[in-house]
Amino acid sequence: MPDWNNVYTEKSVNSATPSEVVKEKAYLIPAKSKVLEYASGLAGNGIYLAKKGHDVMAWDLSEVAVEKINTYAIENKLNLAAQVHDLESVLPDMKNKFDAVVVSYFLHRDTLRYLYEILKEGGLLFYQTFSGERYENQGPLREAFRLKQNELLEVFSDMQLLFYREDDCRSSADGARQGQVYFVAKK
Ligand SMILES: C[S@@+](CC[C@H](N)C(=O)[O-])C[C@H]1O[C@@H](n2cnc3c(N)ncnc32)[C@H](O)[C@@H]1O
Repeated sequence: MPDWNNVYTEKSVNSATPSEVVKEKAYLIPAKSKVLEYASGLAGNGIYLAKKGHDVMAWDLSEVAVEKINTYAIENKLNLAAQVHDLESVLPDMKNKFDAVVVSYFLHRDTLRYLYEILKEGGLLFYQTFSGERYENQGPLREAFRLKQNELLEVFSDMQLLFYREDDCRSSADGARQGQVYFVAKK
């Protein structure tokens, strides 16, 4: 596991980009929604959504990332606030809080259902991360950090599925994203 503070010391918020599923499906989020970016890194998703007029919160373990996001938000007058949370140990005590929760390239299996709990009724969960077999050395090796095939469909089977894509190693056409999952569902 990298030392995330070291990683973000070297990086600028300007280099953070939204995930593909957020770029492609952000139109599903109602105007002026309350959105959480979960394990945000430098908040590529959060910045993208704050610029679209949403009220965005970002949570991450890295104090360096959180400080950079908050400075960027003030300088750019964005409705975006970041907080430090260790989302593998102490989950903020809240329920039915967000209109949308966005996760990219983070997985902690034991707490996946927390993402459902913090969504309001009708709220949307966006998830993009690595899954299945590793393709061309992309993404983590450890199973703990890769979704199993169809795993999100099973864990969130009580949600209404709005979009799902799971390209595997045999997908070869232009635009294939082997070894990744894109998921959007409504509570
Ligand atoms: C691969 S990065 C992805 C960052 C961002 N979501 C993105 O797509 O660019 C994983 C992120 O998870 C965060 N992270 C790791 N362990 C965490 C924990 N226990 N609680 C909260 N965030 C954590 C790291 O600080 C890092 O920002």
